[in-house]
Amino acid sequence: MNYHIEFEPLGRRGECQSEHNMLQAARSLGVDIVNICGGVSKCGKCRVRIMEGRVSGHTDNEIRLLSKAELDSGIRLACAVYPLSNCKVFVPPESLSTPQRTQTEGRTIDITPDPPVKAYILEVSAPTLEDLMPDEERIYKTLDSQYKTKAAVMDIEAVREMPQVLRENNFKANIFLRGNEIISVKLASSRNIGLAVDIGTTKIAGYIVDMETGETLASKGIMNPQISYGEDLITRIMLIIRDQKNAEMMQKLDVDAINKITAEMCSEINAKPADITEAVIVANTCIHHLFLKLPVSQLGKAPYIPAARSPINVKARDIGLDISPGGYIHTLPNIAGFVGADHVAMLLATGMAEKNSTVLTLDIGTNTELCLVSGGKMTSVSSPSGPAFEGAHIKYGMRASDGSIERVRIDGDTVEYHTIGNKSPVGICGSGVLDSIAELYKAGIIDIKGNFREHRRIIKDNDGMLEFLLTEADSKKNIPEISITQKDIRQLQLAKGAISTAIQLLLKKHNLRDKEIDQIIIAGAFGTYIDVNSAITIGMLPDIPVDRIEQVGNAAGMGAKLALISGTKRKEAEAIAQKVEYLELATDPDFMKIFIKSSNMGWDNSR
Ligand code: FES
Repeated sequence: MNYHIEFEPLGRRGECQSEHNMLQAARSLGVDIVNICGGVSKCGKCRVRIMEGRVSGHTDNEIRLLSKAELDSGIRLACAVYPLSNCKVFVPPESLSTPQRTQTEGRTIDITPDPPVKAYILEVSAPTLEDLMPDEERIYKTLDSQYKTKAAVMDIEAVREMPQVLRENNFKANIFLRGNEIISVKLASSRNIGLAVDIGTTKIAGYIVDMETGETLASKGIMNPQISYGEDLITRIMLIIRDQKNAEMMQKLDVDAINKITAEMCSEINAKPADITEAVIVANTCIHHLFLKLPVSQLGKAPYIPAARSPINVKARDIGLDISPGGYIHTLPNIAGFVGADHVAMLLATGMAEKNSTVLTLDIGTNTELCLVSGGKMTSVSSPSGPAFEGAHIKYGMRASDGSIERVRIDGDTVEYHTIGNKSPVGICGSGVLDSIAELYKAGIIDIKGNFREHRRIIKDNDGMLEFLLTEADSKKNIPEISITQKDIRQLQLAKGAISTAIQLLLKKHNLRDKEIDQIIIAGAFGTYIDVNSAITIGMLPDIPVDRIEQVGNAAGMGAKLALISGTKRKEAEAIAQKVEYLELATDPDFMKIFIKSSNMGWDNSR
């Protein structure tokens, strides 16, 4: 008997034999789980969490190797647990031997740093029996006379660390001032470093930046562990509406993940998380609210009202983030319920507010945020493009990691493909799905409606569904059968239809035609890896010359870095959030008509 097993966050799924344990099932689907002991329940490294489905009971080895808290939260050893039904299994990053492709690169922008936290090297006079001034006042007075600052408050944690630092260093110290508040008193040799984080629905990107020079000292990406509560935001919100405790769990998952990559980045640069004086976090509105412990239930139903839109400054310790104990987290402003601070960060990094031409920018993901600027007017929308680009709901779909097909070319009967890491193919990621369908359309193997015509490589699966074979099984070469099904094509049509509808409605709002777009900027991890020609072929993007399309990488992360090192950029971000007009797509009377036409292959120009 077979069970359908799904491994998250990779999105890898398929039929597995019921007599196989989860480690064997993972292996058969090309998911590499750490197994130092070779799967004999001795090393305890193959930890997974059972999210859904019935499984076998705990073994003695699991009870010995796992803590009570782990056992209670559904953690199991993959080599010891057997499925008793279809299952969904979460594989935490530490159990994955091949990392996910999480994007931390982005365009670099040179600005002169103007950090909100400034460091001042200070030498104060040592107290005597004739000079009994408390340490705190001694620092305020010297700072004011030497640097003309108006320091008037000191964080309680800075007060706690100050006497020892002063006395062990001949009354010399590095004073970290934010506005009029001293947030930290450290050794004179300490650096002024900051943390910028972009928390996406599926991925988290973190950066440690030198606050004085703006140089990125370290960067790291990790999958957002909240995926174990649902691939899309609405599922997560619904779980929270059902039980408020889920909000706390999800908040903690993200904070723990950020603390983990922060500690890793710090060790790369010989620093400690406590050396970080400030953090800037950008995220979509739902994740922003969860992270700040704000309510999110209201975001799950129309009219999707955020609890807060303004930038927020909160002590990192109130959120659980491990940086300097007196340090702050700054979040950029949100725009609407589904257009958040990450969108503002992207607009900041791409300089959209200063464009004099007609520019469209989009960050493609489970939710795609778009902004059109023309004639000094900026309009943003959010389009629910769904998780197809993450490989979800695609028969052989998976997220971008080693062995996933990311490029496809079809020539007659021949299919050429390229996999990430040049490994044997195990599935297909979003850019591979996009390429495959564009190639099928170009080769005339599917028609304008996305229906299969006839071809030697088209077969019927066990359920009678038509599918096109990208690979033919070859056990000698370790190649499994991987195909694109008629249902996969429908999923992509929905996703691309949602994006092209959003573009058309933005153009309508600005009274423009597609040919009048001077430039398209594609941001985000998925957008970086797509072939823009394929995106134009299927009609996800308008047919403008490709040299007018720019792929800029993680612009939201770049925007977070800019806001980290520059108070001026924080003000610009606020001005952007005020300037952008938010357009609710579903309220446009032409929405359905355009969406139906946009689901066809090719760009629909008939509006
Ligand atoms: S592989 Fe070592 S405990 Fe499972």
